[in-house]
Amino acid sequence: MRILITGGAGYIGSHTLVEVLKAGHAAHVVDNLDNASPVALARVKQLANRDFGFTRADIRDAGAMAALVAETRPEAVIHFAGLKAVGESVADPLGYFDNNVGGSLALLRALRAADCRRFVFSSSATVYGDPDYLPIDESHPRRTTNPYGRSKLQIEGILEDLAASDPSWSIALLRYFNPVGAHASGRIGEDPTGVPNNLMPFIAQVAVGRRPALNVFGTDYPTPDGTGVRDYIHVSDLARAHLAAVDWTAGRAGEGETGVGETGVGETGRGCAAFNLGTGQGTSVLEMARAFGAASGREIAVNLAPRRPGDVAACYADAGRAAVELGWRAELGLAEMCASTWHWQSQNPGGYPDEGAEGAA
Ligand code: NAD
Ligand code: UFG
Repeated sequence: MRILITGGAGYIGSHTLVEVLKAGHAAHVVDNLDNASPVALARVKQLANRDFGFTRADIRDAGAMAALVAETRPEAVIHFAGLKAVGESVADPLGYFDNNVGGSLALLRALRAADCRRFVFSSSATVYGDPDYLPIDESHPRRTTNPYGRSKLQIEGILEDLAASDPSWSIALLRYFNPVGAHASGRIGEDPTGVPNNLMPFIAQVAVGRRPALNVFGTDYPTPDGTGVRDYIHVSDLARAHLAAVDWTAGRAGEGETGVGETGVGETGRGCAAFNLGTGQGTSVLEMARAFGAASGREIAVNLAPRRPGDVAACYADAGRAAVELGWRAELGLAEMCASTWHWQSQNPGGYPDEGAEGAA
């Protein structure tokens, strides 16, 4: 199958690209490389031992998207491209809505014009806000507290309305919990610029000696050890889930085990349905620091610090729908998440090298 992958040079996109190629699909990546390195694409090519297309373009560029879709004729799209830093979104909401919502609209218009109506979208557990109950299932009310999260909610709404308006669309909204880890080879991984906002890359940089200690944001939450609890999911498990979701979009209404989409199920498409992607297991900050210490053989120094504004105490998934309808479940645990992150970080202590050092895709 021909699959277009937006944001395919980024963290989750590059891991998914490996799996898409390994499964024998023909892939084409579009990415503006604003938050990614061309070295990641070159390494994916080596890992999969397969070639793929790459266009450096911004998905907001309607002309470029129309030309790309006409040229590559995708049968399905996996849409990762977007900005994802919560703090940055608070400082620049217009930039976030422009990129995430505007980019998605330009992409969807090009796809509709070319009759490509199978779409897999990178959403986030952030759409659940501060949860009313745990584990969180897909029927949990949606709300958010920051422009990044709102951009995800808005795109989900656009996709639901689109599926309701035209029954030939098949749209999977994948709500990721906390993606971590790296490809088992250690050749590709998460490479944040500046000081990492997220827990796992921060711990990895402490382990490798780039930062002195982990600040543990909050020790008085109503959790077993007082620190924040999250549902960490290995990026390679997440990558496989995208293949399962692409397969799901090929199904027809009435075929699935438990029925299909929540909205807009019609004669040919599956409508629009959301799937939580997590392990269902909650892990605290201190548990993660200990697990990483064990995987790396390095002690992770910690500073106990005040809560980070906007954080929730605990967030973990009921991933049952993905198991039943996508036939997917997470297989890798905390030990593999930490070991693979350490493998990547210790082999690439400064992240991806400059393009000149290795060549681009
Ligand atoms: P990432 O920043 O590594 O990847 C996003 C990619 O999109 C980058 O390569 C970037 O250059 C590209 N991009 C951004 N805007 C673009 C545009 N206008 N045109 C073309 N390319 C553009 O992020 P990631 O962690 O791989 O996340 C991928 C998707 O998953 C994002 O939509 C993100 O919001 C979502 N998500 C991520 C997490 C997480 O914790 N990593 C959690 C939930 C959801
Ligand atoms: N934490 C620390 N120290 C750090 C970084 C994080 O103690 O240096 C703690 C946080 O307080 C939280 C936990 O580690 O308790 C996880 O924090 P992350 O920043 O790694 O992840 P979040 O759950 O806060 O948010 C992430 C993404 C969001 C996304 C959400 C759900 O950053 O964009 O997962 O998918 F919406």
